[in-house]
Amino acid sequence: MLIPEHKIDEIRERVDMIALVQRHGVELKKSGRSHKGLCPFHQEKSPSFYVWADTRRFKCFGCQAGGDAISFVQRLLGKPFVDTVQDLAKELGIDLEAAVDPGMREKQQLKDATDFAAQHFQQRLWDPAIGHHAREYLRSRGLTDELMRAFGLGWAPIAWTDLADRLREQGLLAFGEKAGLVSARSKGDGFYDTFRGRVMIPIRSPEGRTIAFGGRLLEGEDGPKYLNSKESRLYNKSEVLYATDQARDEIRKKKSAVLCEGYFDAIGLHQAGVKHAVALCSTALTPGHMALLGRLEAKELVLLLDGDEAGRKAVERLAGPILAAGQSARVAVLPDGEDPDTFARRVGAEAVQQLVAKARPLTEHLFTSMLPGGPGSSFEEKMSALDRLKAITSVLPVGLVRSAFFGALSKHFGIPASELETELKSKNPQAVRAVGKPVSNEPRPDPMEALYAACVLRDTRLMGKDEYRCFDEIKHLGVRTLLLTIQSGTSPEEAQYEASDTVKLALQVARDQLPVDEARLEPAFHSVCRRVKLRAIEEHLGRIARETAQTPGAAELTDDARALLEQRGQLLDLKRQLLSQK
Ligand code: CTP
Ligand code: MN
Repeated sequence: MLIPEHKIDEIRERVDMIALVQRHGVELKKSGRSHKGLCPFHQEKSPSFYVWADTRRFKCFGCQAGGDAISFVQRLLGKPFVDTVQDLAKELGIDLEAAVDPGMREKQQLKDATDFAAQHFQQRLWDPAIGHHAREYLRSRGLTDELMRAFGLGWAPIAWTDLADRLREQGLLAFGEKAGLVSARSKGDGFYDTFRGRVMIPIRSPEGRTIAFGGRLLEGEDGPKYLNSKESRLYNKSEVLYATDQARDEIRKKKSAVLCEGYFDAIGLHQAGVKHAVALCSTALTPGHMALLGRLEAKELVLLLDGDEAGRKAVERLAGPILAAGQSARVAVLPDGEDPDTFARRVGAEAVQQLVAKARPLTEHLFTSMLPGGPGSSFEEKMSALDRLKAITSVLPVGLVRSAFFGALSKHFGIPASELETELKSKNPQAVRAVGKPVSNEPRPDPMEALYAACVLRDTRLMGKDEYRCFDEIKHLGVRTLLLTIQSGTSPEEAQYEASDTVKLALQVARDQLPVDEARLEPAFHSVCRRVKLRAIEEHLGRIARETAQTPGAAELTDDARALLEQRGQLLDLKRQLLSQK
């Protein structure tokens, strides 16, 4: 029987660890935040066996045994994993076969923890002493108290367990971890706060429910300027736009939305009275965002981006998805060196509204910014402009939008549309491929590992669907780092940007092997997972075989060998299971 991971989690989360250990004959005494007693796994006279009620884990500092409720019972009674889980589930009244929608339950738990954290951060901001510095910072950015409250801004103090302690009191620690608000310490037990010394910006659903956070570092600390909640069942940043809850009425009224790139750009625009502003949550624009804007009845989109090279590049990045969705859009150009936030603060609402009103249509903006001289430009100028356009044209689906785009392009470039089509097709980046060329000394990732990563890059939610935890089996350091970066909330684009050329090359090759059809991606991912896991199992079995080879007879099996043989049985079970799914 394959026990769903969430049921196992539920057991781990609900078990009363102190009672469980005591019921198995270990006497425990409270000692600080933990309980201690004589270790049942080795002979000792003074207690070095510790149990923590909050994390529901145990650890013996004498024999180094340690783990959770399941491994405790398994080890003590020598029972197989599955039997142990079934017995514990029965004791806790958890029905392993029950068809409660696990997704719904997890979502509710994430909601509880996230709601609680939002309240907590706000409380900290408005606490006269604790939040003073943060409030002053926000005021210095031109925000009124009223706006800070409307946006639910908060403060995560410079402390390790300010939130973790509160979550534990509420019994929400495990969910807080799932929501990325706290992390388990790598050494020892306990959890620490993810966000420290940061102004907390709640990211909310259109209905106003907090689903994630962006945390902006306050001056003087270190770490990245922004830290964002990782994605979860609750939060998929490809479908959320920051400040939608505040902007949606105005968007419906104006039939238009202003899109910018930073949280504080959206906040600053609202403060200046531009109330239909929303922002991306440190990710690329996706069809999910376009659908959301459609539901909000935004007939047009006004891009308001930084007045620097980054802002200009952003227009080119955003143009593809906008044009592909057939969304009408205009671009407002900010003065050099300004972002929407500083600009709105400096010139005020009316001037921003004027700038928005004067915004030029997206295609016109693209063509003139890439080829200012129009049809009279030199051949070289035209070719280099076309080169920059290929990223956009490569995502335009065949149809009305594409032909209209090529029509306008043809006029501006003074080149017949049919010739442009041929020219841009041959510049399709995927056609140019360099395979097999060693880029550096870094070892090349295993193709399966690259495929795993390529799937996740297409849809980061897949990481949450890795039921066999293949992620733990990924060996290539570069691929692991990439995945960890994505897990910590960095956008796939950004994470890839940081990857080495060796990894990039492997990803490019892998990407081309994946099904184009979105619906077939998840099955492909599961098949990759099975193969990664099988390979790991084979290797593990090989190691066990080597280690138990010298073991003479069953009667003389050492504890270690017995544990290994038991593990072997479990691995063989899992292997059978995996093979039967192929
Ligand atoms: N961002 C991020 N991680 C970073 C930097 C930026 O996730 N290390 C995302 C955030 O969503 C941020 C947006 O990119 O809001 C824009 O970044 P940037 O322009 O650097 O920051 P600002 O929004 O201008 O922030 P501030 O005005 O507070 O400096
Ligand atoms: Mn800014």
